[in-house]
Amino acid sequence: MLDYTGIAWVNGEFSSLQEARVPFLDRGYFFGDGVYEAVKVRDGKLFALPEHLERFERSMKEIRITPPKTTGELTALVLECVEKAGLPNAMVYLQVTRGVGPRMHAFLPEGEPMVTLFVAPMTSVEEKVRKAGVSCITVPDERWAHPHIKTLNLLPNVLAKQAAVEQGAYEAILVLGTEPGGGLITEASSSNVAAVIRGKVVTPPLNGRILPGVSRAIMLETAREAGIEVEEREITLEELRSAEEIILTSTGCEVLGVGKLDGVTVGEGGAGPMTERLYEIFMAGWEKRLTSVKS
Ligand code: PDD
Repeated sequence: MLDYTGIAWVNGEFSSLQEARVPFLDRGYFFGDGVYEAVKVRDGKLFALPEHLERFERSMKEIRITPPKTTGELTALVLECVEKAGLPNAMVYLQVTRGVGPRMHAFLPEGEPMVTLFVAPMTSVEEKVRKAGVSCITVPDERWAHPHIKTLNLLPNVLAKQAAVEQGAYEAILVLGTEPGGGLITEASSSNVAAVIRGKVVTPPLNGRILPGVSRAIMLETAREAGIEVEEREITLEELRSAEEIILTSTGCEVLGVGKLDGVTVGEGGAGPMTERLYEIFMAGWEKRLTSVKS
């Protein structure tokens, strides 16, 4: 059964998630002409909200949408919605599209950006899944040339995730090109990827071919603070296949170990020791990055 619990905010109006309606002529619907963010609420507190809003504003700028609200206004709106939803463990989804008007490809001369937001329940990964590590498949990275922008155009990601689900896997890791070494790892359908290679935490660089994940940045920062060696560089598929550990990071899964890649056990199997350590220090770093709903 699908869960429609939650609340929505559509251009100034609150409703239940199920009853929320957007105008048919919204450009997000026709063109995917917009950007979004997903922020986690745990125990009633928001994680890394300023970092998410900063990326949101950067995404708007990249696709030439003038932010319809200031950072302060967006923060206040998010806090109001989280408080109203009353869900201690949830996800806040924020979206801005180029607005509503007759369907034409070029920007509308008088277009006003359309802001929508929802807060819906989100549970964390279960402890036993975290320990066992999840399964991943690899698929070709068939996205457009600017995946560093968090746009609504997620069709390749949707198809990649569906391929994973159909093979009983949790995530699909995207591989760009084929040669040499079987192509380069970019990220996964809705998470970033890192690997432990010869004892070092390695993750693809921010070269425009991946989303600059908030969780990725915090994992790297907390790892460096803890004296763990990290390196931002390209990883080939061949290297990933022989990595000691493979790690996914995202708002949804935080820092999560990969137990199997394309049906083959990764390293010693289960979440490896470095993944466990990175998860622990990542979670310890949470405390510094929380925004309380009621201050
Ligand atoms: N996805 N890469 C992609 C393609 C993503 O869609 C996401 C997040 C990430 C991880 O970013 P962050 O750590 O900032 O959540 C990486 C969100 C959760 C989503 O689409 O629902």
